[in-house]
Amino acid sequence: DAVLPSVVPQPVAARLTRAAIFLVVTLEPGDDAERAVRKLCADLSGLLRAVGFRDLEGGLSCVLGIGSDAWERLFGAPRPKGLHPFREIRGRHHAVATPGDLLFHIRATRMDLCFELASQVMSRLSGFVTTQDEVHGFSYFDDRDLIGFVDGTENPVDAAAVAATIIGAEDPDFAGGSYVIVQKYLHDLVAWNRVPVADQERIIGREKLSDIELDDAAKPSYAHNVLTSIEENGEPLEILRDNMPFGDIGKGEFGTYFIGYARSPDRIERMLENMFIGLPPGNYDRLLDFSRAVTGSLFFVPSASFLDAVAP
Ligand code: HEM
Repeated sequence: DAVLPSVVPQPVAARLTRAAIFLVVTLEPGDDAERAVRKLCADLSGLLRAVGFRDLEGGLSCVLGIGSDAWERLFGAPRPKGLHPFREIRGRHHAVATPGDLLFHIRATRMDLCFELASQVMSRLSGFVTTQDEVHGFSYFDDRDLIGFVDGTENPVDAAAVAATIIGAEDPDFAGGSYVIVQKYLHDLVAWNRVPVADQERIIGREKLSDIELDDAAKPSYAHNVLTSIEENGEPLEILRDNMPFGDIGKGEFGTYFIGYARSPDRIERMLENMFIGLPPGNYDRLLDFSRAVTGSLFFVPSASFLDAVAP
């Protein structure tokens, strides 16, 4: 089920970077807004080339995701098979669903590159969109999140990352595409830092300082890496994450921006159910006692070839 050779995916599997901007916007009503977005789709690769060329070492990349309702307005039929609005989950904790028509996931080694591209994109969309959420993420000591654990270790890499994220023969019209779910989490760091490190390690399922995985026997059934390790017919179902810390000291805001890509949204949704409802129900992810999801949206990521071919 390899990707057709003529289809180029967006840079979903780009390397982890020092800086990122996560921008979620909704479309204003009207044909003008739709035209502006379609034009941006076709121009995005050119914009990225122009800004990225200012520092080729900067590794600038941008992934554009399109929400379910926006897909209907912009492109109609055919639709990507797995595309639907993010479904809220009410379990022990609440995974909220929040509005989002377009996601821009912009990554680079330098924030100025991310900032410049985001500004260029938004100037094209000025008057046609409302920004729902904008997060500037930074990498924090040894790729740790603000709860102090190294985040991203078990991500698939190279061919495995492509196999986990890029649609193949299961949806031939949209081969080379992907799905992405984002959630913005705010941590109660005062409460978290009161938890003894050994208990924090059982919640995550890894040692804090060394990042080594705990022995299976030492891991509780609610450990984060137990609840998010899922299988189908004995095969692991993987996703690709590129979480980033962010914050606002003055507001007392300490966060992790969760972003997960997969070739089907089901596997991310199964992980979320395990975390929020629990497996079995009630055996939920204790990380959520200290981390509140304040946004939640799902997007389809068309291939770069699809975007290049969009007619205004
Ligand atoms: C693993 C943090 C939310 C899926 C991890 C690890 C950390 C972490 C520290 C261990 C290191 C690693 O392998 O990356 C967080 C934080 C979150 C969060 C701080 C938000 C507050 C989520 C969500 C999902 C998820 C919402 C999925 C829907 C995973 C997966 C792994 C993982 C699949 C790898 C498990 C394995 O194979 O060992 N996360 N995570 N995480 N997380 Fe999360």
